[in-house]
Amino acid sequence: MTDTVRWGIAGPGSIAARMAEALADLDGAELVAVGSRAHHRAAAFAAAHAVPRVYGSYDALLADDDVDVVYVATPHSSHHDLTVAALEAGRHVVCEKPFALSAAEAASMAETARRTGRFCMEAMWTWFLPTVVELRRSLAEGVVGDVRALRADFGIDVPGETGRHRSPVLGGGALLDVGVYPIALARLLLGPPSAVRALGRLGPTGVDDTVAGVLAHDSGALALFHAGIDARTTQTAEVTGTDGTITVESPFWAPTAFTVDRRDGSGDRVTLPHRGLAHEAAHANDRIRSGHTESDVIPLATSVALMGTLDEIRAQIGVRFPGETQAP
Ligand SMILES: NC(=O)c1ccc[n+]([C@@H]2O[C@H](COP(=O)([O-])OP(=O)(O)OC[C@H]3O[C@@H](n4cnc5c(N)ncnc54)[C@H](OP(=O)(O)O)[C@@H]3O)[C@@H](O)[C@H]2O)c1
Repeated sequence: MTDTVRWGIAGPGSIAARMAEALADLDGAELVAVGSRAHHRAAAFAAAHAVPRVYGSYDALLADDDVDVVYVATPHSSHHDLTVAALEAGRHVVCEKPFALSAAEAASMAETARRTGRFCMEAMWTWFLPTVVELRRSLAEGVVGDVRALRADFGIDVPGETGRHRSPVLGGGALLDVGVYPIALARLLLGPPSAVRALGRLGPTGVDDTVAGVLAHDSGALALFHAGIDARTTQTAEVTGTDGTITVESPFWAPTAFTVDRRDGSGDRVTLPHRGLAHEAAHANDRIRSGHTESDVIPLATSVALMGTLDEIRAQIGVRFPGETQAP
């Protein structure tokens, strides 16, 4: 068991600010450095979050031997290269979702982590939230009988065409940005999918504005998902079993409550507050302190497989990123 785990943040953007807040309240963790492509942006972030060391390049951050773990909080297209470089530099890594652009990239990141013996985890924060942990436990206990179907939607309204959300170069599109949440929820609650069918509507930049589809799971359960960056949806989820339905209140990707309605007329409402990214940060911190190289909640093989599902959907809806000469 090492003492305090020293964190460095790569990419001082909006999610990085939330991670800085989470780390500030976490025992056994200390945010010691931040890196940006521009020194002044790292400096502004450091001033806002009391971070002692500031770097004007990602390479300089990764070279800091007094950083134990790097939180990769940059656009999707840079997750692979930054994670691999950080691992090769001897750092542990917690990398934002989606873990990579493709399963091939994710497999390369996993291979590098295993070879270097460093901890590496996808920052799928939803899986660590108390309401989601309790939802998973309740379903496993059979609170609504055998699960037959799940439905979840995650639509946001992103104006304009110039930001990272619609940039093919940065790995944009509804699927990788928000679609990963309902698809990951289905995997968490129903297990790995055995088949997927999807349709999408691509926008003028060539990435998906909307994507919807269905996943088939070995248990026989089907999961319907819908994601978009062109219209806000209810952001709810329902899980239907042979004895009733659970409704996960909005936003299902960061819920504080779910309701259980059973066919026999009985029901419950379970409410559990959460502390944002603190739950995943505490998990990663504990795993690193206890010498593990992977999460037991979202192991690397799960992140690679999740990217494989996203690859299959991208192939079906016709989204290719620059440099991809064939469907993923
Ligand atoms: N877990 C969650 O709830 C959640 C929520 C939102 C986003 N995310 C994920 O977190 C990652 C970052 O999202 P965000 O919303 O925080 O993005 P953001 O606000 O745009 O910040 C991204 C940061 O990445 C850096 N960056 C490096 N290369 C870049 C490039 N080529 N173009 C633009 N920025 C670049 C930028 O810092 P410099 O330019 O200063 O280097 C910027 O501060 C994405 O993978 C996203 O999917 C997760």
